[in-house]
Amino acid sequence: MTAQSAALALGFHRAFVALFSELREGGARTGEVFTHGFAEPFSGGIGVGPVTFETLVRRGEAIRFERGRDAGTPLARGLAELNPGAAVIAPLSARGQALGLLYVDTNAPGASASEDDARLVLALAEQASLAIDNARLYGIETRKRAAAEALREAGEALAGSLHLSDTLERVLERAVTLFRADAAAVYERQPDGRTVNIRSALGLPSEYMLRVRAKVGVGVTGRAIAECAPVAARDLNTEHYGGSSRYTRQLLAAGRYPYRGVLSLPLITRAGVFGALTLYWEVPLPLDGDDLALAAVFASQAGLAIENARLYEEELRRENEAAALLSVARVLGENQSDAALGDTARLVTHALNAARGLIALTDERGEFSRCATYNLHVPSRADLQALAAQLGRGPRALTRRHTLPVAGSALIVPLLGPDRAPGPDHEPPGPPLLGFLYLDDPGTAPPGEHLLHLSRSIADQIAQTLTRERLLSALAREEARYRQLAEGAHDLIISTDDRGVVTYANPAARALLEPLTGPLDGADLLTLPTPETRGALNAAWHLARTQSGSRADIQVGPYRLEVRLSPVDGGRGVLTVSRDLSELQTLADEIARRGQALEAAASRTVEMRAFLTLFTQAQEEERRRISRELHDDTAQVLTATTRRVARLARDLSGEQRERANDIQQDLNAAIDGVRRFARNLRPSVLDDLGLLPALEWLASAASTLTRLEVSGQERRLNPATELTLFRLAQEALNNVDKHARASTAAIRVAFDGAHVRLAITDDGQGFTPDQAQQRAEAGHLGLIGLRERVTLTGGTLEVESSPGTGTTLVFTLPG
Ligand SMILES: Nc1ncnc2c1ncn2[C@@H]1O[C@H](COP(=O)(O)OP(=O)(O)OP(=O)(O)O)[C@@H](O)[C@H]1O
Ligand SMILES: [Mg+2]
Repeated sequence: MTAQSAALALGFHRAFVALFSELREGGARTGEVFTHGFAEPFSGGIGVGPVTFETLVRRGEAIRFERGRDAGTPLARGLAELNPGAAVIAPLSARGQALGLLYVDTNAPGASASEDDARLVLALAEQASLAIDNARLYGIETRKRAAAEALREAGEALAGSLHLSDTLERVLERAVTLFRADAAAVYERQPDGRTVNIRSALGLPSEYMLRVRAKVGVGVTGRAIAECAPVAARDLNTEHYGGSSRYTRQLLAAGRYPYRGVLSLPLITRAGVFGALTLYWEVPLPLDGDDLALAAVFASQAGLAIENARLYEEELRRENEAAALLSVARVLGENQSDAALGDTARLVTHALNAARGLIALTDERGEFSRCATYNLHVPSRADLQALAAQLGRGPRALTRRHTLPVAGSALIVPLLGPDRAPGPDHEPPGPPLLGFLYLDDPGTAPPGEHLLHLSRSIADQIAQTLTRERLLSALAREEARYRQLAEGAHDLIISTDDRGVVTYANPAARALLEPLTGPLDGADLLTLPTPETRGALNAAWHLARTQSGSRADIQVGPYRLEVRLSPVDGGRGVLTVSRDLSELQTLADEIARRGQALEAAASRTVEMRAFLTLFTQAQEEERRRISRELHDDTAQVLTATTRRVARLARDLSGEQRERANDIQQDLNAAIDGVRRFARNLRPSVLDDLGLLPALEWLASAASTLTRLEVSGQERRLNPATELTLFRLAQEALNNVDKHARASTAAIRVAFDGAHVRLAITDDGQGFTPDQAQQRAEAGHLGLIGLRERVTLTGGTLEVESSPGTGTTLVFTLPG
């Protein structure tokens, strides 16, 4: 407006108002230029040389220029570009401060700049100066107020957000707006303390963000962090701050660094400097002292807001993790149904920011027996095996190749039970595998350190819950087993709490004691015995609570009980196992009685045997006597009678003689019969010649064709043994004749060392034990008699027979 009114009022053509942006000793440079009448607006500032500066600023005078008059002067050279016909330049100043200059000119032919023109322009400039100064003051005031307001608003906005990314975004936005910067970045000090990385930025080229790694102490940002104070580079084109990273140094050296003004403000918390907020301008730093102070206040506000958000976020994260762990424990702790497992899969998937999740569990034999998924089909056994093959000792990120189809990235975590001691079968020590967790996501970014850590905690939690449940159910099974044992036990089993109150009594205890003591549940164990034996039980009970175990003999009613006590539950209770000694005594008595009976029976058997032996001997003796009598007396008498009948016959004739001959024949037959009978009763050949000839006679007398075979060293045995063997062979051959229907039979005698073996074999029809048994029951005791006789001599009998294969009896006797 000033330029326009100056031009119009004074009849000039063009005019501009230029405001100083820099004042130096003996010179100045203008910033903003406001023009009127120029074909194109000015770009860049206008330099003011020392002479002009002296006239305008020091002396407060106007300068007149006329092309014709002033050609060739420095002023003409300075104005060459504007090329005016005539021009007037007047200073703008207010309150003793140079503000800028007012320039008017004309190109009219023969135009001049008179003294009057100069005075008029000067007057106008003075007036304009006041207006400009006022406007400026007002502008500054307004801007400061606006800045203060913006700061307050920024503070509020920053404090309003507790999400770190949100807060960072707001800090950058506000900073750029407030300070009219072209770009801004929040740098974060790395854990090593020496380097700083860009955490978040606004307006910075992405390559810049990726490649800038600043060093603490170097460059604008690095120095702000090291010095814990704002550092400003007004113009990197003229001032040298050095790049803090190689990338910025390269850009600076090549003159391709995109920014000129840079301001870095340290971000400070109670713990110290954690980073910096750095602002970038494509122009030289446009901030004055007030702005810088404002920026410092803003930075401290931003620092607090970021720190709060960080703390809050950390807090939130912990809370979420704790909540995830708790819900997993709660869901799985209640039961381990398929639904609970499915819920757990969902919880874990959410807690670990995944899209799909899977829990696979193994059974006791290590086979994958259960599987719950979220957003995922249940994978095949082969897929599960392939995943399990990728398991390590802890959580692992899976490469694309090993994930389930469609996933971009995945995570697998083993579920490990508590470490077990190496077993007797030298099972490899180390925690048993209960199963695994698998989580995946369509994105390809591998899970970060933090997620791996959380997944480990969750896996531990699940494993712990599973283990506890497995232990509890094993315990329940065990308990049921012990209870069954106790219920079925014959002994009296009673357990008490730490005061001796009965908490459990098995049926045996109830059956024996309750008729005497009333209900056992809740009764005081220590008052059950009779007063005399109460002390013993008390002492033993206290011993069992404090030490390992003890015993006492007590009396309850009529029962004498032997009680063994042992501590349970770390001495908080006592288990007693009692045995009824009175019953034991009865049992012992019964055993003794039966023992005596057995002994009596045994001695009766011995007596029987002795009697049998005597009986047999007497029988043999009797047979021998009868045999001899028959042979010596009856047969002799019959022989003599025969001779007499023969003599009588010689004296007779005719029919009488014939009858006498008949009598003689009958008598001869009777003599044969008596002799045979006598021999069968007791063959004299046995006494005279011994066993073998006697057996030979037996064989020849048998109606079955029978042969005698002898092996071993033949010898005479004692007469009793020879007689026994003869009788055995005799009865056996009788049976062959009677029952076998055999074509041949054999008697085999084998002498060996201290024994003699007699075998009677036939090739007849044989028999079964049943047949023999039935015969014996009908009173036919042939075989039984044989066995008895063998037993009496201390020998044995083996019978081999079955229908159709013949029969062999083998007698083995000492002798
Ligand atoms: N060598 C044999 N061949 C076939 N059967 C036989 C033979 N020896 C015994 N037995 C069967 O065993 C049964 C029992 O024999 P055992 O000598 O005990 O009685 P028994 O000969 O019938 O009568 P007892 O001997 O009292 O005159 C016989 O009835 C016969 O059926
Ligand atoms: Mg017989």
